[in-house]
Amino acid sequence: MRNERAAPMMLPIIETERLILRAPRPQDAEAIALYLNDFAVSGNLARVPFPYHLSDAKAWLRTRHPDTEPDDANFTIEAKGEGYVGHIGFHPGPDGPVIGYWLGKPFWGRGIMTEATIACLDWFFAETRAPVVYSGVFHFNIASLAIQQKLGFTQSGRSWLLCLARDAEVEHIDTQLTLGVWKARRT
Ligand SMILES: CC(C)(COP(=O)(O)OP(=O)(O)OC[C@H]1O[C@@H](n2cnc3c(N)ncnc32)[C@H](O)[C@@H]1OP(=O)(O)O)[C@@H](O)C(=O)NCCC(=O)NCCS
Repeated sequence: MRNERAAPMMLPIIETERLILRAPRPQDAEAIALYLNDFAVSGNLARVPFPYHLSDAKAWLRTRHPDTEPDDANFTIEAKGEGYVGHIGFHPGPDGPVIGYWLGKPFWGRGIMTEATIACLDWFFAETRAPVVYSGVFHFNIASLAIQQKLGFTQSGRSWLLCLARDAEVEHIDTQLTLGVWKARRT
């Protein structure tokens, strides 16, 4: 059963200790193309082709609008003092909102995505009536699964998901996070 979608809204700027999450801008295109044209990144994502061109980034950015439904919101992640590092966002899935994220490889391993995901989930649950947020990882993505498990996502099953960069269906660990678990962890 689909969750009721929240109304469109202007994306806020979300600030954390080390990060700024803001609406994507056309000027992000070159950084997106630079970091997504890396199989180490795109090979872990379902919907990103490889090789990835500047034209792909420009086309995707044209689909982004600062006023959007929360379950279609995407934020550019900037590290304070460093600038662009990656993206985090939601898309409407078959059962409800799905969260996804990626960082350019130079920025891995510093806890950036854990910090961004906490801030994004706080915002999303506060803005919507969604009882569950869905996600998951390709079966080899230990770092992403570690983030999700740390934050309270539980494994709900396995599926096969097309990975555009690999041009193949890949086994996927499906996960979900309930509002109840999130509230309990954040209080
Ligand atoms: C997955 C990704 C977002 C992680 O970002 P990050 O900022 O490096 O992640 P964090 O540092 O916040 O957390 C990673 C966690 O995984 C753990 N981890 C990383 N590699 C690991 C490994 N090989 N074995 C066990 N744990 C591992 C880290 O120790 C850390 O957990 P901790 O904070 O408890 O120590 C980043 O690697 C990335 O963008 N990858 C390519 C795209 C992608 O996979 N997106 C997600 C698709 S589901």
